[in-house]
Amino acid sequence: MNRTFIGSAREHERSLASLAGGVATAIRAAQRPVPVSFVGGSGPRLTDIDGNEYVDFALAYGPMLLGHSPAAVIEAVHRQLDRGLGYGASHPIEPALAEAVCRTVPSAELCAFSNTGSEAVHAAIRIARAATGRRRVIKFQGHYHGWLDPLHIGVGASLDPREPGTAGQDPQASASIDVCAWNDVDALRQLLDSEVAAVIMEPVAVNRGCLSPAPGYLEAVQELTSAAGALLIFDEVITGFRLALGGAQQRLGVTPDMTILGKAMGGGFPISAVCGRADVMSEVASGRVSHMGTFNANPICGAAALAAIETYERNAEEIYPGLDEAGFALASAYREAAAAAGVPLQVNQLGAAGYAYVATQPVSSYEDTLTADPGAYVRLSELLLEEGIHVIPRGILYTSTTHTDREVKELEGALDRAMGRLASELASQEAPSALHDDEGQSGQPAS
Ligand SMILES: Cc1ncc(COP(=O)(O)O)c(C=O)c1O
Repeated sequence: MNRTFIGSAREHERSLASLAGGVATAIRAAQRPVPVSFVGGSGPRLTDIDGNEYVDFALAYGPMLLGHSPAAVIEAVHRQLDRGLGYGASHPIEPALAEAVCRTVPSAELCAFSNTGSEAVHAAIRIARAATGRRRVIKFQGHYHGWLDPLHIGVGASLDPREPGTAGQDPQASASIDVCAWNDVDALRQLLDSEVAAVIMEPVAVNRGCLSPAPGYLEAVQELTSAAGALLIFDEVITGFRLALGGAQQRLGVTPDMTILGKAMGGGFPISAVCGRADVMSEVASGRVSHMGTFNANPICGAAALAAIETYERNAEEIYPGLDEAGFALASAYREAAAAAGVPLQVNQLGAAGYAYVATQPVSSYEDTLTADPGAYVRLSELLLEEGIHVIPRGILYTSTTHTDREVKELEGALDRAMGRLASELASQEAPSALHDDEGQSGQPAS
């Protein structure tokens, strides 16, 4: 297939003159041959400025669980556009949306809305500290909770768990954060004491390998956390509404004290939530913890989120088995094409989330992820782009409710060709990681 990226290259060049780095969020710079400039999206497909079409398995880094043009979301937003963009005041969508969250997410008894996952994480930590009267927070190595200073440590490909995610971070901001090994009950036991306000985790570590918790691990964390008088927070920004209607907590059967939602919650619009036990969230209800934001639950994003959640809810019996099937088909296509071409590839997948690594050994821990060759995967994503498949260069794989057998078939054909090319390139390299000098995943795990 002969695809050119001339228009994207021109747009990127133009952006570099006025947009710092030429991209709006750092991770997008990893795309090769250039950050693609898209002009349209519909269902599971995207079109770029050069007229190239792609089957999309990146889904805007997760939000487009209903595909790129979900009718119910778009109609709800159109209706609201005619009634005003924002009031900076209460409106009927707010309680309807809060009720929808409380109906669908097992841990949600009360909720509060923000605009992005990072903000909602920040709010959750503040609420947990107020509710417990304690300061320390335990996070896990490789888990990503947004770009704000305090929790943006221990996120990249480093064995130093306290390494800041970026230059410019204030190390003091993370002084009360401990970084713990995940899936290791003893490590957590050693860190937990009467000063810990909260333990926060991705219940399935999608950002670093789509790693699942070991059997019994979440239950053990819950027991230890509760015994220490601390709160358990699940960051379900990725897994919420994606792994089940009620998120990973419902799928895995462990209900945390608090939950953070974002991405798929908005059906493509920027909105997030922190929700949880009524006695904990009463810190916000009483006004003791101030929860603020000009755009919080604005009616446009609120209408989108309400329509998205109602769609998940109404169609849950078809949507979630379908998402599991599509996710499994995607992972199988990757595995089969890699095996046929002789590319050492590992794929972890749970429902509509997955992660692929070019690595010789199975990837089931944070340490295992460090054995992978991220440059080779970036190259695979470039080869796939040329074949009409759009994936996140770092390795996360997403499917939506709009992916069908047809998209999987296209993926299979593309993978056969791309893996074949990658295999010969790897064979001709002395060191596979020399494929690219940059890695696309070294420091920043998320969007
Ligand atoms: C698990 C998790 N938490 C929090 C965030 C931050 O969300 P946002 O990018 O909306 O600030 C992300 C973003 O990818 C995420 O994956």
